[in-house]
Amino acid sequence: MQMEELVALCKRRGFLFQSSEIYGGLNGFWDYGPLGVLLKRNVKDAWWTDMVVGHNEMKVMPGAPSTYEMTGLDCTIIMHPQIWKCSGHYDLFHDFMVDCRESKRRYRFDHVKGRWVKGMKHGENGASAQELTVFITTIETENTQEALDQAAQKFFGLRKKNLDSLEWTGDLTSISSLSDFSLVVGPDAKQPGTLTSPREFNLMFKTTIGALGGEDDISFLRPETAQGIFVNFKNVLDSSRVKLPFGIGQIGKSFRNEITPRNFTFRSREFEQMEIEFFCHPNESPLWYQYWRDRRFRWYTEMGLNGDRLRLREHDPEELAHYSCGTADIEYAFPFLPEGEYGELEGIAHRGNFDLRSHMEGKLVREGNELLLEKEANGQPKYRGSGKDLTYFDDQRKERFIPHVIEPSSGADRATLAFLCEAYQVDQAPTSEQGQEAKRVYLKLHPRLAPIKAAVFPLVKKDGMPEIAAEIYGELKKEMTAQYDEKGAVGRRYRRQDEIGTPFCVTIDGQTLQDGTVTIRDRDTLEQWRVKREELVDELKQRLNC
Ligand code: GAP
Repeated sequence: MQMEELVALCKRRGFLFQSSEIYGGLNGFWDYGPLGVLLKRNVKDAWWTDMVVGHNEMKVMPGAPSTYEMTGLDCTIIMHPQIWKCSGHYDLFHDFMVDCRESKRRYRFDHVKGRWVKGMKHGENGASAQELTVFITTIETENTQEALDQAAQKFFGLRKKNLDSLEWTGDLTSISSLSDFSLVVGPDAKQPGTLTSPREFNLMFKTTIGALGGEDDISFLRPETAQGIFVNFKNVLDSSRVKLPFGIGQIGKSFRNEITPRNFTFRSREFEQMEIEFFCHPNESPLWYQYWRDRRFRWYTEMGLNGDRLRLREHDPEELAHYSCGTADIEYAFPFLPEGEYGELEGIAHRGNFDLRSHMEGKLVREGNELLLEKEANGQPKYRGSGKDLTYFDDQRKERFIPHVIEPSSGADRATLAFLCEAYQVDQAPTSEQGQEAKRVYLKLHPRLAPIKAAVFPLVKKDGMPEIAAEIYGELKKEMTAQYDEKGAVGRRYRRQDEIGTPFCVTIDGQTLQDGTVTIRDRDTLEQWRVKREELVDELKQRLNC
């Protein structure tokens, strides 16, 4: 599937729009349209139901070491600035970026990739050609070599048919592997040597609280929802009487001032996360880590990502922080990535007791195998914690300890995008439905995720069919999202619903007038069958599993 086709469908059918489009758009921000909002809400609802409210705390889940409880939170986006100092985000949450002095653009250091190439650069105004070797770059995409060819063509002043005269050497590599940028041609530059050295750039959006606007009033839009959960750990314990092991789930907006937002909604500056912080006894944390890793992977497969485009990548032991027993990413081979590459959908991390300890004592640093309080030269803590007791007393073990945390952290927008990519299908339309187009585009979304569950059509706009269809539509609307459509040939109406992933279409026809039955048509199998009108709602609900 070409990504452009899906992007075009998303715009045309109202799934996703560029934010602030009529003013030229705002890079890294996306609006969900009428169908997109339903789809993303279904993704979040499925997660919330399956992970939090629908979880049965009296039952041992397959693969879990014991029973566990789940509860939820909805914390503010702006929190006390000290939270970000203790969590490490204030000092450490940055990317490296390079600026281009010529194009005035800024890029994420590790996203600028290129290759060495030798060629004859044609001089301007009749000047003689000169042999040059430069490092041509681009921002890595689905077709990186094509983009490099275009950039080289521009740089050397060649015609497309003469591209063969260029001698490329070495594989595609990031400029981070180079020690000198004097021969590097930036992604939008005409001359080599215009990229600056890499510099740190903190990804948190700053904001000012209140009218005075002094240094002390500066705070940040949260870059992750997780910290709201850690700082409320004691509140949840005291108010809901949960006992370890238990998890707290939260869905909400997060903000990161990404240097190069790109790939549709994959890397945005405003996005939603679905996070769980799962608190357990330190000795049991490796087992819970395994459980959540597998549980979360299974969830994506249950929701329809069951092809080989989905994988679970366990980090190598040397990649792990010393307090961590494991970190795994659930990754998806998004179509905009180069062949063989995967993008992160969710990370499952073993965070040890790092966060609860930081919010008690202050910002921690790693020294050898230990986490110690970071101190100024005068011996004072660099950033003070809350000083509150965030330990847990286990009355069965008769033991007080700081719980360990397993964190399955997922992006609602990335999950939605992956479901859309996986669902996009093109096949030959059946002859009976062909009309003007032989091609059938449909979204094979899981019924729980489909924005519209059923569409109702009167076969023709006469003989009382529209009236019966409108009544049936009213009955369905009480139970599920539904659409009514009486415009155009029925084949066309099927096609419109296929394109937005509606699992079932219901047609009211001549036979309905005689025997009270209606036709149901299945989006994926194209099978059609008749049911009695009074059995329609139950039949659809059963097939939709809702
Ligand atoms: N609390 C841990 C945490 O935030 P992360 O790996 O930085 O971990 C978790 O983010 C998930 O949030 C990612 O796997 C991804 O799905 C989503 N995410 C992160 N940055 C994003 C961005 N700029 N745009 C869209 N989704 C993003």
